[in-house]
Amino acid sequence: MLNAEAVTATEKFVRNKLEGEGSGHDWWHVFQVRNHALLIGKEEGADLYIVELAALLHDIADWKFTDGDETVGPRVAREWLESLAVAEDAIRHVSGIIEHISFKGAGAENKITTLEGKVVQDADRLEALGAIGIARCFAYGGHKCKPIYDPTVKPVMHDGFASYKKNQSHSINHFYEKLLLLKERMNTAAGKRLAESRHCFMEQFLEQFFKEWEGRG
Ligand code: NI
Repeated sequence: MLNAEAVTATEKFVRNKLEGEGSGHDWWHVFQVRNHALLIGKEEGADLYIVELAALLHDIADWKFTDGDETVGPRVAREWLESLAVAEDAIRHVSGIIEHISFKGAGAENKITTLEGKVVQDADRLEALGAIGIARCFAYGGHKCKPIYDPTVKPVMHDGFASYKKNQSHSINHFYEKLLLLKERMNTAAGKRLAESRHCFMEQFLEQFFKEWEGRG
């Protein structure tokens, strides 16, 4: 199968599977990640075929929705790409990216090593920042029945994936446990640049949130 055909078929497959998903991991999230990834990938000189396939498939079966099982996403992606007769080295690369793309706690090591992986991870992280990041944070919290905020529950800097995935904290803590940490962890120059204004916007949002919460505004 030609590369362009594999990409088009994958787009249809993912759209079909994730359209209307309600936790912020729907088709339009994937659509945005793909666009960011192609933009960053071009600037970084990455292999855009790998970047596009990995971006399209990155949330196909996220551990957050498979009872913490991180092996489902890479497996589903591999099976899909095998069904299209995509070359084995491309399949290995794409499923490896999907295996390691997620944030796994403040103290957990990032295992993304290839340029294409770094590009797709940055693209996904941009979607966790800014106005869209805020919207997705609360959509995900609501999906998981988490409260918006509880001042008696303080943020925890998770030292590894085991404690991070068990986390049942409120949505405001998610800013401190993950979202505000991402700017410093962007892999590429383009990713860092694009993260800047989104990060500032989240800080402004939190400032206003606490102003209102404490009756100061
Ligand atoms: Ni994602």
